[in-house]
Amino acid sequence: MKEWWIQVGLLTVPLLAVYLNIPPPNLSPALFAWRSTGAFFTFNEQQISYRESWGAVGSSDVVIPLHGFPTSSYDWYKIWEGLTQRFHRIIALDFIGFGFSDKPRFHRYSIFEQASIVEALVSHLGLIDQKINILSHDYGDTVAQELLYRYDNRKKGHINIGSLCLSNGGIFPETHHPRLIQKLLKDGGIFLPILTRLMNFLFFSKGIGEVFGPYTQPSEAEYWDMWTALRINEGNLVVDSILQYINQRRKHRDRWVEALTNTSVPLHIIYGPLDPVNPHPEFMEQYKKLIPKSTFTILDDHISHYPQLEDPTGFRNTYLSFINSF
Ligand SMILES: *[C@@H]1O[C@H](CO)[C@@H](O)[C@H](O)[C@H]1NC(C)=O
Repeated sequence: MKEWWIQVGLLTVPLLAVYLNIPPPNLSPALFAWRSTGAFFTFNEQQISYRESWGAVGSSDVVIPLHGFPTSSYDWYKIWEGLTQRFHRIIALDFIGFGFSDKPRFHRYSIFEQASIVEALVSHLGLIDQKINILSHDYGDTVAQELLYRYDNRKKGHINIGSLCLSNGGIFPETHHPRLIQKLLKDGGIFLPILTRLMNFLFFSKGIGEVFGPYTQPSEAEYWDMWTALRINEGNLVVDSILQYINQRRKHRDRWVEALTNTSVPLHIIYGPLDPVNPHPEFMEQYKKLIPKSTFTILDDHISHYPQLEDPTGFRNTYLSFINSF
């Protein structure tokens, strides 16, 4: 028994091998239904998942909701029905590296590419001349800012933006406080291959729980759906590359903030004030100062970083009154 550590080692190796090869969880019926009502289109040989619904007769308005990190278009499931009552078409995609879309390894994920994917989808659906309302959250806010920059500067292939409604996102690097896990994964260096593989459900749900308010925590089933959507196509192995968006925001800060400052497109922001990533009142003070033309809504005190999931009714009503205001 002197060399107990050899025994421990011999036991650990197979356990670790099993752990590292745990397949992603099965899709819940809800997530399965979400995927089976969706479709794919091809962008640079990658399959991009999207979902489209046709709604209100008598309206020709189109809305494209853009999801956040590290989740997927499934973030919009609670307000989807509400959007169909106001819009003619609702189109939501999973960004490359997220949800049901392809998640290539050794790929340089970037906000610029995600914006090009949105443009390609709009073109694929024959909507390039149509006015598009963008509704965005978190990571999606940054993609929306790049789309707005291209639209206002009439870049080739740009979409026509009719309005933009942002929600809790790291619009200003100076008021953005990424979670420890985001920093570790972003700058993990040689530990990355270990970190991305050790990330498991408990770790993940704890991290996500911290960015939801105390009274609006996800249910166990909702945590599993978020985790499943991340694990599909080995998405856990590409989060470090996707997280480079934090550096991209810093590098292109002026381009993306000025896109908001300079635009004449109607702007609104829906903000959950308990957000630890973009804290109150620091964030909104900066927003009001730099983007005074934008209207804004601050939701109840206990709503945090995922307002469309934490307060879907408040979120939807606020969004629809913005849409009906211009
Ligand atoms: C915003 O407007 C200013 C002043 O006209 C201009 O110098 C700047 O380049 C514009 N920024 C962007 C990102 O278009």
